[in-house]
Amino acid sequence: MHQIIERCRQLATYSEEQGVVTRTFLSEPMHCVHGTLRRWMEQVGMSATVDAAGNLRGYYSSVKPSAPRLIIGSHLDTVPHAGAFDGILGVVMGVALVELLRGRRLDFGIEVVGFSEEEGVRFGIPFIGSRALTGTLDDAILSRQDARGTSVAEAIRAFGLDPSAIGEARVTDATLGYLEFHIEQGPVLESLCLPLGIVTAIAGQSRLEVVFEGKANHAGTTPMHLRRDALAGAAEWIGVVEREAAAIPSLVATVGKIDARPGAGNVIAGSVHMSLDVRHADDEIRVRTVKRLLDGADRIRARRGLIASSEVRLDQPAVAMDAQFVETLACSVRAGGYTEHRMHSGAGHDAMIMAEQMPAAMLFLRSPGGVSHHPDESVLDEDVAAALATGLHFLDQLERAHG
Ligand code: HGY
Ligand code: MN
Ligand code: MN
Repeated sequence: MHQIIERCRQLATYSEEQGVVTRTFLSEPMHCVHGTLRRWMEQVGMSATVDAAGNLRGYYSSVKPSAPRLIIGSHLDTVPHAGAFDGILGVVMGVALVELLRGRRLDFGIEVVGFSEEEGVRFGIPFIGSRALTGTLDDAILSRQDARGTSVAEAIRAFGLDPSAIGEARVTDATLGYLEFHIEQGPVLESLCLPLGIVTAIAGQSRLEVVFEGKANHAGTTPMHLRRDALAGAAEWIGVVEREAAAIPSLVATVGKIDARPGAGNVIAGSVHMSLDVRHADDEIRVRTVKRLLDGADRIRARRGLIASSEVRLDQPAVAMDAQFVETLACSVRAGGYTEHRMHSGAGHDAMIMAEQMPAAMLFLRSPGGVSHHPDESVLDEDVAAALATGLHFLDQLERAHG
């Protein structure tokens, strides 16, 4: 098991920044991630390719030539200054599961996918990789630009791939479904002293960019009552976001990114660009809260003589995991002698995209300290062992059901 953790830590060294883990969509270090994972895949009898969206696709063939496949995957990209396990653990575990078959071929194939982008860091749109598999990576996304004006399509070309072949990445073969191993990224399993969690649903999420515009001016000569300070308005609104979210049970809302311009200490900010991330298991509550927060921005705008605007980057409904797959996973957890715990996911995952096209399920591994999206993110050897044992039982159950 420790080899899995060591492999994740090795892949974490492939980063855009020295000493921290930052790996965004098809950045240079992704070549090393592909090369290393490809080698591990081929060592256990898999063939590996990279599709036009930059997804690494490893395939372990079945005894039957035209057999359906089970897809096991997660994402290879990270947030800035990330930990070593968010996403990549699910891909390394997929390869490890195939290795544990020791050459045994099943009545179905296994495709292990490392998605090129799930976090949405570089282009503000998450799930670029998994959307290619479900055929929803459209021209609007391909033309989105990053902070340097590079489009998704140009980033794909720069990586040595051909965006015109995106359609070939779509899953068209018969599939049994999709399984994702992922760290919980929260405190629940640790608080229950449990190694594993079976995900029943993934919370819906709204991601917006919210902009306040005022008037840049001299910080030393402009009296307070004559200012149209975009940053002061933004700060007031961020307080509203926090108070509104705290008042709604199990809703979370975050302003995680703020860019005040022109960004000089002696200049009153003329404009502020902010991210807004709102999540809840109930889509109606989530959508209603987004509207309330934007109404709050409008009231601040009016009182302070600012201009406020917003753009929706993602309106992702909550997604239930496949009921049959959840039961098979629960059976597999019990068969391994572990306690079955069913739970929601507050974090978004590729499983919510793959669920648009096939049965999807997720198995969470405990996050020590409930920490994630942080260098202190970790996972325990014994929990990796528990997840692998569960994965093997899951394969056996699928074999019996589809054999
Ligand atoms: O933001 C999320 O929910 C996930 O980590 N991409
Ligand atoms: Mn993440
Ligand atoms: Mn993740």
